[in-house]
Amino acid sequence: MKILTTAAQVRHALEGKRNGTIGFVPTMGALHAGHISLVEQARTQCDTVVVSIFVNPTQFDDPNDLLKYPRTPEADAAMLEAAGTDVVYMPAVEDIYPEPDTRHFDFGPLERVMEGAHRPGHFNGVAQVVSRLFDIVQPGKAYFGEKDFQQLAIIRELVCRLDLPIGIVGCPIVREGDGLAMSSRNTRLTPGQRAASPRIFETLSLAATEKTKGTKSPAETAAWAARRIDAEQALKTEYVVIADAATLQPAARWEDPGEKRIFAAVRAGDIRLIDNMEI
Ligand code: PAJ
Repeated sequence: MKILTTAAQVRHALEGKRNGTIGFVPTMGALHAGHISLVEQARTQCDTVVVSIFVNPTQFDDPNDLLKYPRTPEADAAMLEAAGTDVVYMPAVEDIYPEPDTRHFDFGPLERVMEGAHRPGHFNGVAQVVSRLFDIVQPGKAYFGEKDFQQLAIIRELVCRLDLPIGIVGCPIVREGDGLAMSSRNTRLTPGQRAASPRIFETLSLAATEKTKGTKSPAETAAWAARRIDAEQALKTEYVVIADAATLQPAARWEDPGEKRIFAAVRAGDIRLIDNMEI
């Protein structure tokens, strides 16, 4: 496994690999089994597996979140080696942004809801870094988790708009034994917050039962779920929404065609947890 720090090194290392499929997994490090599931999927489908670790400043709307974002480079390298990674790209900020990135992406209705509405500029930063990383790695396939379902939709739209020949592969959410969706930020939860947090998964799962009762609309079911999460003292919902899985717009009626998902963003102290599932 090669650990590289510059775009030039990555381009050079991949020169001889372009006959086969290059699979790419972008991450911000502090890796856990969720990230590794993406690497494993790439390993089974690609000839060369590239993983990037870069805590991208342009996608953090909260400076405190950027400051406190966990960084565990040695443990990350060991996990990636064990998962069969060929190239790890760990750039400095200047390597990704030699000059400030002034590009502005507009993803329309996709970014006006949920994370896009609550984290101004977040998806613009994600699009900046991912388009830059795609340009450096030029993968045939790139792997993203459904944990960040809206991000996955935005990346599919980005690839479509820029007309990039990259297959975007969505991967299922990996959870802790008690249902909490794995996240690098989970390590920052206090024991009390950690004990309360499985209520998010539990409530989203129970929302499906509410749906089958047929007495509540999608909006009423989402409001019920928000109340159930907020009943836990350590948790405060930012939003709970039931939306169409393709457009991400709130679902008006259960009978409307198309897959629906329930999405939640919840604060535990200053830590933001997100989760979603099909409903
Ligand atoms: P990060 O939060 O490190 O996540 C990297 C990838 O791992 C994302 O595609 C994310 O959806 C996926 N992932 C995280 N937790 C997961 C889980 N529990 N189950 C399945 N997949 C999971 O997302 C980012 O970084 C950044 O925005 C990035 C795309 C790297 C751009 O900076």
